[in-house]
Amino acid sequence: MREENKNEFNLIVSDILSNSKFLELKSDLHHGISRYEHSLRVAKMTYYISKYLKLDYERVTRAALLHDFYTDNDTMLYSKEKTLKVHPSIARENALKYFSIDAMQENIIETHMFPVTLKLPKYKESYLVSGVDKLVALKEMSCYKTVRQFGVFVIFIFNMLAIHLNG
Ligand SMILES: [Fe+2]
Ligand SMILES: [Fe+2]
Repeated sequence: MREENKNEFNLIVSDILSNSKFLELKSDLHHGISRYEHSLRVAKMTYYISKYLKLDYERVTRAALLHDFYTDNDTMLYSKEKTLKVHPSIARENALKYFSIDAMQENIIETHMFPVTLKLPKYKESYLVSGVDKLVALKEMSCYKTVRQFGVFVIFIFNMLAIHLNG
């Protein structure tokens, strides 16, 4: 990250990164990567792309950082499969509880797992974060079989197309 972008990115997200609940994500590991690290990667890539697309990148970047704002404790009552479906709603509730987020940011968080969850993204910003999340996960989960990686890549392209069509 270039120095000026680094400074701006830090200004946008510093309150989230120092929040005690958010810091708990550092100890929740998935494929050897913490949810904190994963969320940071999604937020950084979203920051670059949304800035490039001339979107309201501050709001989108913050929502991207909060897209997986849940701890293993929050989902301990659910199976792995169920967690895939319910965690966007839990992340949204946590984001509402700890920060002030608007309707677009709520939708970004709640629909980032589309099409696993059936709730449709309402904004091109939601398609963007959903696509970036998949791309970052693809890179992180290199143990995935090629066919699965290809599937995720196709969904990413679909999301990028949706942004274009919504533009
Ligand atoms: Fe997620
Ligand atoms: Fe994610």
